[in-house]
Amino acid sequence: MAKKSTTEFVCQNCGATYMKWQGKCDSCGEWNTIVEEKQGGEGFSNLNTKSKGKMIDFVSLSGSSEALSRTHTNIKELDRVLGGGLVSGSAVLVGGDPGIGKSTLLLQLTASIANLPNNPQCYYISGEEAIDQVRLRAKRLGLENSPVHLASATDVKDIIATLEKSDASVVIIDSIQTMYLDGVESTPGSVSQVRACSYELIKLAKKKNFALFLVGHVTKQGSIAGPRVLEHMVDTVLYFEGERGHQFRILRAVKNRYGATDEIGVFEMQDQGLVEVENPSALFLAERQGNISGSCVFAGIEGSRPVLVEIQALVSPTSYSSPKRAVVGWDSNRLSMVLAVLEARCGLSLSSQDIYLNIAGGLKISEPAADLSVAMAIISSMTNKPLPPDMVIFGEIGLSGEIRAVNQPNLRLKEARKLGFNNAIMPASLKKDKKNTNYDISIHEIGNVQKLVNWFN
Ligand code: TYD
Ligand code: MG
Repeated sequence: MAKKSTTEFVCQNCGATYMKWQGKCDSCGEWNTIVEEKQGGEGFSNLNTKSKGKMIDFVSLSGSSEALSRTHTNIKELDRVLGGGLVSGSAVLVGGDPGIGKSTLLLQLTASIANLPNNPQCYYISGEEAIDQVRLRAKRLGLENSPVHLASATDVKDIIATLEKSDASVVIIDSIQTMYLDGVESTPGSVSQVRACSYELIKLAKKKNFALFLVGHVTKQGSIAGPRVLEHMVDTVLYFEGERGHQFRILRAVKNRYGATDEIGVFEMQDQGLVEVENPSALFLAERQGNISGSCVFAGIEGSRPVLVEIQALVSPTSYSSPKRAVVGWDSNRLSMVLAVLEARCGLSLSSQDIYLNIAGGLKISEPAADLSVAMAIISSMTNKPLPPDMVIFGEIGLSGEIRAVNQPNLRLKEARKLGFNNAIMPASLKKDKKNTNYDISIHEIGNVQKLVNWFN
């Protein structure tokens, strides 16, 4: 029977499919993202065959299985994010904005692994850059003598045929959006192409037991372009993020079948490439100026590691009919909630004030534990009274104005102490554990937001 190729309409943003074209995707709400794509072809198995399936064997949950083989990459920050090293046979998607440093990171990674004593075979396949461009970057990074196999290719069939015959340990595909598979009738970068190419490459990685890195571009909404589907196919999803103007880059695990998520690795982009940052708190606080109103230090936790960051707020009378709220590095809904609580429970009047909030250094914080620091920074700016420069703050704010306990207070306090902080404002409910711990830091406990205002009297 001749293979029938059907057409469907696929949203390039979220991967939702439709029978006919429409202007707006009902699934993700984006406009003009739906594109006609031909389905069927060699990349996908055809289920319409008459042959019956084989019986599958079921086994019990207990039983011996091979221990994961992990390779330490010699880049500690990367090992941490991967859950303690690179797992053979795993597929890792590395997403990030263009120009953020994905190619640089992966070139450094391949060179580092290729130089290991047991000589792992590393393949770097670039679909975006010509060989000369990659060589130039390697030279700039001082890695030109590393035994990495470099190629510029985009045809997945050729790549698979080549890798089948190799004894690869690590393969980098930079980027998956430039790859194409012959049997799939749509352009490279479309959902069908990306899905089919990834499927074939991941299948080979599992079969040959090499670690596969796929580079993926990110859309303006912050998700990996088109292929949200890709996130389900791979074992690990890493986002490489940071502000272009800042030299800090943060590698964040958002999915990891072989380790904890929310773990971050911190790098600094320098002239010689990405350099690991072992003490991120010191770096994030490096440019802090003491005794300025509207600034406070938040003791946060990123994954398993405490990180201190400066939170800056600026409150100024508005000249608009509705006041401006601008947030960098934090959730704007969370800011609205904190402002509403301050208005309702502390009687502060913020409706005629513009409020700007910034997490210094380009870090994005998602912890609710930052609520209290944000509230303190805002009140400090409003009253124009600085907080003591050696003070850290953490705590979650509830809607009734109560300050709620947060996880791992000891780790936060320890990091603050290490960096020379002598005072901490934190939730009162931790009182009981305090007896057992010698914090060596003055603790000011606050149970309710009403008490916050007293700090500035
Ligand atoms: P790149 O790795 O090409 O980004 P991506 O693959 O995510 O698109 O990084 C490009 C940027 O990094 C570029 O703007 C220059 C900068 N860079 C440095 O600052 N130092 C370096 O040593 C290198 C190689 C790049
Ligand atoms: Mg690149």
